Amino acid sequence: MQNAPYILAIESSCDDTSAAVLLGTKVLSNEVASQAVHEAFGGVVPELASRAHQQNIVPVIDRALKVANIGPQELNAIAFTNGPGLLGSLLVGTSFAKSMALALAIPLLPVHHMHAHVLAHLIDDAHPRPIEFPFLCLTVSGGHTQLIEVRSPNAMSVLGETIDDAVGEAFDKAAKILGLPYPGGPHIDRLSATGDPTFMSFNESNLPDFNFSFSGMKTSFLYALQREMKINPNFISDHLNDICASYQQALIKVLMKKLMAAQKSTGIKNIAIAGGVSANTGLREALTLWGSKKALSIYLPPFQYTTDNAAMIGIAGYYQYLEGANAPLSTSAQARIKF
Ligand code: KG4
Ligand code: ZN
Repeated sequence: MQNAPYILAIESSCDDTSAAVLLGTKVLSNEVASQAVHEAFGGVVPELASRAHQQNIVPVIDRALKVANIGPQELNAIAFTNGPGLLGSLLVGTSFAKSMALALAIPLLPVHHMHAHVLAHLIDDAHPRPIEFPFLCLTVSGGHTQLIEVRSPNAMSVLGETIDDAVGEAFDKAAKILGLPYPGGPHIDRLSATGDPTFMSFNESNLPDFNFSFSGMKTSFLYALQREMKINPNFISDHLNDICASYQQALIKVLMKKLMAAQKSTGIKNIAIAGGVSANTGLREALTLWGSKKALSIYLPPFQYTTDNAAMIGIAGYYQYLEGANAPLSTSAQARIKF
């Protein structure tokens, strides 16, 4: 059998510059430089993101190689995110990956960012026991909300996805209305811990299939607060924890309803979540409870593999490498890319 390859992976699709080194499915390093520059704007500013990637990419790759304790000459392939994401951000990682693969004369492995979120579950230390196929994966991030059926590392299909906002966006936009820092998801999560989830309710959309919609919920949230603030101008500060807990609960209810329907329809008993919002305490609790009630195997990713990171790009690259992939140097970054 051939030796496990050393793969350098690069992720630069949004506002995190990340580099990782994997030996086969084992992560040797996973360095992330987050960009604080966006906090003041309450959201990611694409122009500033690409500039920050340009500043971060060399030091981050350097650190990833140092932590893994290997030199560039030992690398067997370079994996990188080629989409979807912010074009200016993607171009930084893409150009770097192409130059490095060319200089080292090793295979170039373009990775779909959303495949990578799912495949993070196959990383060596992601679970005490390897995840079993087939599995359903609910991928929930700032840019995407997807229900995926995963049959093997290189065979997965979308059962349903959001037709408007992503659930992470629904968290972040509500947080902005509440005056919380960006990104707001973790703040809503933290404040919800001591709030009453039955304090308020919001309109939820009801699409017939496995697709999601969150824009109505966000509007309903805004209108409910405006109504209450006419009566009590301090409504937000007086009830912040209860508002957060109610909104978080409403979002989780929508996610769980679709996931349960997909489980019932497919009969698949292995269930995973992925993406930044999979760090959410309430969602994790809801899944664990459902799993124990219905005898399902629930796979919650370790926190370092939930938000954007290069280790997940590396594992996706590894499975391409096994199939002998090597993309041409004409490969380009794509803001939108087919799943
Ligand atoms: O996967 P990710 O890092 O980047 C994208 O590809 O979008 O996800 C970022 C999203 C943000 O919307 C952030 O607010 C959300 O994940 N997030 C959370 C939590 N941690 C991160 N949302 C709810 N609860 C959390 N604990
Ligand atoms: Zn992501």
